[in-house]
Amino acid sequence: MPEARTLGEAPGPRGHWFWGNIQERRHDPLQLFLRAHQEYGEFVRLRMGPTISLISVTSPELIKHVLVDHADRYGKPSSLVRDAWPVLGNGLFTSSGDFWKRQRRLMQPSFHKERLATLAGSMVDATRQMLARWRARPSPSEPLDVAAEMMHLTLGIVGRALFSTDVSGNASRVGQALTVALAETNRRILSLGLYAPDFLPTARNRAFRQALGTLDSVIFDIIARRRAGETQGDDLLATLMAAQDADTGERMTDAQLRDEATTLFLAGHETTANALAWLWHLLAQNPEVETRARAEVQRVLGGRTPTAQDIPQLRYLTQVFEEAMRLYPPAWIMARQPVKEDVLAGVQIPASPRVIVVTPPYAIHRNPRLWPEPERFDPERFSPEQTAQRPRMAYLPFGGGQRLCIGNNFALMEATLIIAEVLQHFRLRAVPGHTVEPEPLVTLRPKGGLPMFVEPLHASA
Ligand code: HEM
Repeated sequence: MPEARTLGEAPGPRGHWFWGNIQERRHDPLQLFLRAHQEYGEFVRLRMGPTISLISVTSPELIKHVLVDHADRYGKPSSLVRDAWPVLGNGLFTSSGDFWKRQRRLMQPSFHKERLATLAGSMVDATRQMLARWRARPSPSEPLDVAAEMMHLTLGIVGRALFSTDVSGNASRVGQALTVALAETNRRILSLGLYAPDFLPTARNRAFRQALGTLDSVIFDIIARRRAGETQGDDLLATLMAAQDADTGERMTDAQLRDEATTLFLAGHETTANALAWLWHLLAQNPEVETRARAEVQRVLGGRTPTAQDIPQLRYLTQVFEEAMRLYPPAWIMARQPVKEDVLAGVQIPASPRVIVVTPPYAIHRNPRLWPEPERFDPERFSPEQTAQRPRMAYLPFGGGQRLCIGNNFALMEATLIIAEVLQHFRLRAVPGHTVEPEPLVTLRPKGGLPMFVEPLHASA
């Protein structure tokens, strides 16, 4: 067998002699990944300054190696865990090892499809409230920031799914605190470790601490009132509180419930909101797809409110949403840190915090070997026949392997219901002259928001 090559011998753009590819990583990461893969193939090494190597893979075989077959050799990067810790603590996204395994086992039943179906009504209610607000706008001909609208909607939905109505008295306080906490966590992750340490009383740190304090007090108060029997709820929090380890009989502590609740709150709204924003943008650009999607909604629902049972019938709508997440995957990159030595594509991977292995859905979903004419928006790619011909790891908006998104069915149901309800009553149009560009922060957002015209389909709609 040939000797494995060293990292230094791995293919990839050389970049600046000292900084490597770090400038482009800052200014245009999407193009950096796309171009590197176009030029050097499905395994590339990028240099982030003199000491850090970023290995990026876009072939289903290599992705499977990292995320599935040898997942034990790749953990969440320690820097990511450190930056997310103040908000997410030891929740499902940041935890690892046996503790993560136990939590995942405890939480999985809360996300089964039958259980999720009970949340459909409140998802549709929240959508109808948004549409009522759209209808009542004082200046309906002005464009609306549809990205912000989707964020507000999905935050409300996951809040209700977690805490039923318990949070409603505090909804705007919690919403604001979460927005501050999310913005600061994103900023920290993107700053590559260059931010003022927590003990310094900068304005940002103080606002962050205050936001965390608000979240903690609201969440701990809800838990305490549930434990005292003062309130009840048929919601995610109730199932998390009831979940019991099959071997030990243990349940989650209040601190663990808090970490899981903030994790679901955060992981569960920005991603879905961005996926929906991109969908509205793409539909406005592709009127023939929009017409077909609206016709399906009309045929299946005929004007009535959608339910969870309608979702399997809304097949084309699901394909449209899947194709939107192919072109604009909200989690545009996933990172791992090798915790055991490995050999990947014939290259030695040392177990080191200075090596990060990434599987970037944005580039994987544009790999021309897997996706012919990758820039073309074509929901037919997700017909059952075409899907059956692709390797599973060619499409990973929700990740893959054991760390697959626990909320994938939640998000798919939520998105389908929202799209169906909006399409029944409104048409969203692009604002002429406004260029929509992707901005790869922690999630992939439309840069500067997404202004669109929202027009009711019927005067009385
Ligand atoms: C379109 C919407 C969504 C997208 C694109 C998305 C994407 C992802 C991805 C790619 C991962 C894996 C990250 C990695 O391996 O590094 C993930 C994990 C996770 N997601 Fe989602 N997600 C979405 C919606 C949701 C929702 C609605 C919830 C909860 C209500 C949720 C909760 C989580 C949690 C808790 C994890 C960590 C799972 C674990 O490590 O065991 N997500 N998500």
